[in-house]
Amino acid sequence: MMKNFSGSPLHSNNQTSNHFRERNNKQHCLLWAVPLRFSLRGYGFCMATLFLFCFGSLFYQLNGGPPEILLGIRQYLGKSTYLDDHRQPPPGVLPFPSQVVYNRVGKCGSRTVVILLRLLSEKHQFTLVSSDIHNKTRLTTYEQVDLMKNITNIPQPYLYTRHVHYLNFSRFRVEQPVYINIIRDPINRFVSNYFFRRFGDWRGEQNHLIRTPSMKDDERYLDINVCILENYPECSNPRVFYIIPYFCGQHPQCREPGVWALERAKQNVMENYLLVGILEELEDVLVLLERLLPHYFTGVLDIFKSPHFMKMGNMTGTVRKHTPTLEALQVLYHRMRYEYEFYDFVRNQFHLTKKKIGLKSISKPPAYPPAFLQELARRTQEPLEEDEELDSDLENANSWLVQS
Ligand SMILES: *[C@@H]1O[C@H](CO)[C@@H](O)[C@H](O)[C@H]1NC(C)=O
Ligand SMILES: *[C@@H]1O[C@H](CO)[C@@H](O)[C@H](O)[C@H]1NC(C)=O
Ligand SMILES: *[C@@H]1O[C@H](CO)[C@@H](O)[C@H](O)[C@H]1NC(C)=O
Ligand SMILES: *[C@@H]1O[C@H](CO)[C@@H](O)[C@H](O)[C@H]1NC(C)=O
Repeated sequence: MMKNFSGSPLHSNNQTSNHFRERNNKQHCLLWAVPLRFSLRGYGFCMATLFLFCFGSLFYQLNGGPPEILLGIRQYLGKSTYLDDHRQPPPGVLPFPSQVVYNRVGKCGSRTVVILLRLLSEKHQFTLVSSDIHNKTRLTTYEQVDLMKNITNIPQPYLYTRHVHYLNFSRFRVEQPVYINIIRDPINRFVSNYFFRRFGDWRGEQNHLIRTPSMKDDERYLDINVCILENYPECSNPRVFYIIPYFCGQHPQCREPGVWALERAKQNVMENYLLVGILEELEDVLVLLERLLPHYFTGVLDIFKSPHFMKMGNMTGTVRKHTPTLEALQVLYHRMRYEYEFYDFVRNQFHLTKKKIGLKSISKPPAYPPAFLQELARRTQEPLEEDEELDSDLENANSWLVQS
């Protein structure tokens, strides 16, 4: 069934290096071209660096990514991080990534990633467990222990994914898995979720009736501007304090909008997450995952960029979405200032990781109001959408890949 992309591991590794060679090449050689004076030494240096990089990358991937290398990357990144300006980098040790947890954040592209993972798990023979509980992100202590026991019993290598706030395995003396995640611009996420809850997605009208059958019409058709400006609970704190708790954890204070939760979330990103990507640069997120977790993600770009998969992305947009007024956006932005502080922190870390690995960042300067809000008002285009994955998605994804 999967014969379309059952190329040998060596084959796909080569493709990966090629991909990097192209990007790397461009970056270096553009730099050399600037002075308009052809420097033979410079050219030689460029080619030598390129060779070393590609050779190293091939060696690394053929070895399945030894943990020392991951640790090395991590330590290297630690030398120039945001936190580092204030204190020593945390001495956390990165465990061997045969245990990976993706505690996916709602409406941040995870549906797309889960579909990719289902295809990859067959290709690379890792155990994928995708929880079908979508509405329970916080757990009692008993439930936490129960879930951690279940997770650690999954045959390794495994990737476990669920909409759940960060679980502190080491608190219960259980070996800590490696975490990964993806977030997106907080207001975009909020708006997307607002309309998704009401009107579903491309699957049509039936969809929302199944999803939110008890929703009354006056709630369903509530103007998002009214919701924001008149302080409806759905559009106020603590409900709009949404992304940070996923990274802060199960402590009750993690759900209280404030500096404590923000700082703890940042610290967790630094200490326990191998990668937190941003949806706005999803393709680069996949490139980095392929680099950092090759025995899970090798070949992911080939699938992602296949025409049939691309077409699927087009179908998952939330319907009837419009951007709130500038005034409402301003209010919402103020309400979500911690969320934005966290998002900017994650985005900077992500760009740093990209830089270390040799990918160019589309590094816009940090955006703040009012220029930011005007930009936001224009920025309505959706990347790939997310919601609870359905079995039919998997069937569709499989048949698309077989066709392609
Ligand atoms: C979660 O959803 C299930 C059905 O999908 C429902 O039975 C349950 O009550 C929900 N739990 C919460 C906390 O909303
Ligand atoms: C853990 O696994 C058991 C047995 O498979 C199951 O009954 C239980 O619901 C699981 N618990 C969680 C939190 O997933
Ligand atoms: C996790 O638990 C350990 C051990 O109790 C503790 O030292 C650490 O601060 C906790 N981390 C988080 C983020 O809760
Ligand atoms: C996505 O859908 C729109 C309209 O539904 C269409 O115009 C566009 O060409 C599609 N894009 C792709 C890449 O299929």
